[in-house]
Amino acid sequence: MDMQQNGMMDAARTILAQNDRGGYTVPTARLYPFQWNWDSAFVAMGFATYDIDRAYRELERLAEGQWDDGMIPHIVFHAPSDTYFPGPEVWGTRHRIPTSGITQPPVFGMALRHVHEAAVATGRTDAADRTLKLFRSALLSHRWWMSARDPESRGLVSILHPWESGSDNSPAWDEALARVPTSTETVIRRKDTGHVDASMRPRDEDYQRFIHLVDVYRGCGWDPMRQWEAAPFKIADVQMTGILARATADLLVLARSIGKAEDQRELEQMHQLLTDGLARQWRADLSRFVSMDLISGQDITAPTQACFIPLVAIALSDNQRDAVRAELRRWLDGMAVGVPSTAPFSPAFEPKRYWRGPVWAVVNWLIADGLRLNRCEDLARDIENGTVKAIEKAGFCEYFDPTTGEGLGGGTFSWTAAAYMVLSRRD
Ligand code: DGY
Repeated sequence: MDMQQNGMMDAARTILAQNDRGGYTVPTARLYPFQWNWDSAFVAMGFATYDIDRAYRELERLAEGQWDDGMIPHIVFHAPSDTYFPGPEVWGTRHRIPTSGITQPPVFGMALRHVHEAAVATGRTDAADRTLKLFRSALLSHRWWMSARDPESRGLVSILHPWESGSDNSPAWDEALARVPTSTETVIRRKDTGHVDASMRPRDEDYQRFIHLVDVYRGCGWDPMRQWEAAPFKIADVQMTGILARATADLLVLARSIGKAEDQRELEQMHQLLTDGLARQWRADLSRFVSMDLISGQDITAPTQACFIPLVAIALSDNQRDAVRAELRRWLDGMAVGVPSTAPFSPAFEPKRYWRGPVWAVVNWLIADGLRLNRCEDLARDIENGTVKAIEKAGFCEYFDPTTGEGLGGGTFSWTAAAYMVLSRRD
């Protein structure tokens, strides 16, 4: 590691220390002042590079927000803050610690395996005990995913809110979200546009629909089956399913060393169902995987990063692999930094607006992992190196303009720091 990288690594650790609120890490101060689900899972993997105890703590504090039915919510409101909307009063959930009522990509299981292996490698004696407790939480949450979000056993789990996807204003949701009314029972008091420029955030109309959905599900008392029936937005999502399938495979590895035989069987069945479901979503004419709008019954063909995420979970055929490689190269062509979250050739591409074009370090982390699993080492390395260089140039920003490399959104971002810690060690 050279001097610049050493300095950057120190800076990354400083960010995690500054965003620490007592065993959990906020994504960034003010804009996101609570614990976010998938952010924390990536952050735990960052911590695992130098502080195993703190890595476990991150996941343990997230699990404090887990509901009795198994759902791990997308936000855990451990301590009050008035710099974010919508806060606990809008969600109206009933958990002991206030939480939101929806979830986020289940990176938790992936992070748990990562942290466990780092703990074992450093000879920690408490690894098995701490992992086992979190394994039970993860398994419960995977059961919730299968029953609450795939009740029809398609092998694809659904999102009922764009916020669940983590890619809030992705063009993938445009058509489905346009059907959601803009009327709300809740008074909308956006805080995000007070922290970052409105041109980099979802539009007001998007927020009206986001909050309409929250109103509907709160009206269902947050009961999963009532929500499934009432949902005006329901998408069988290949990004979510890809991450869940991969996390299931990771839990299976853990189950073989610390779990019971029946856990293994259950996880094997889950994994089979999910990977079969994903395999059916491949569209050879597009060279991509596609999500499905369960209300219209149509494929979602918008070219977004989600199309590549299934690589983390399934083994491509040789033809698929060549097609994905060519497709990704097309997306990277002419970009200062890739992978753009929306293809630059799409009419929906906006290089500065959140999930409509910008590059996200953690997405690159997933795509690179998927490429490695699928024997595309060269492209994986290009994407990892590009990510590390973009961070070295622009700082630990929330996201990056793919056309210029400019850093955008919130600054001093925890998951970008974690991505730097993990990806720069792979050089
Ligand atoms: C936000 O508030 O922008 C988040 O992405 C929702 O979780």
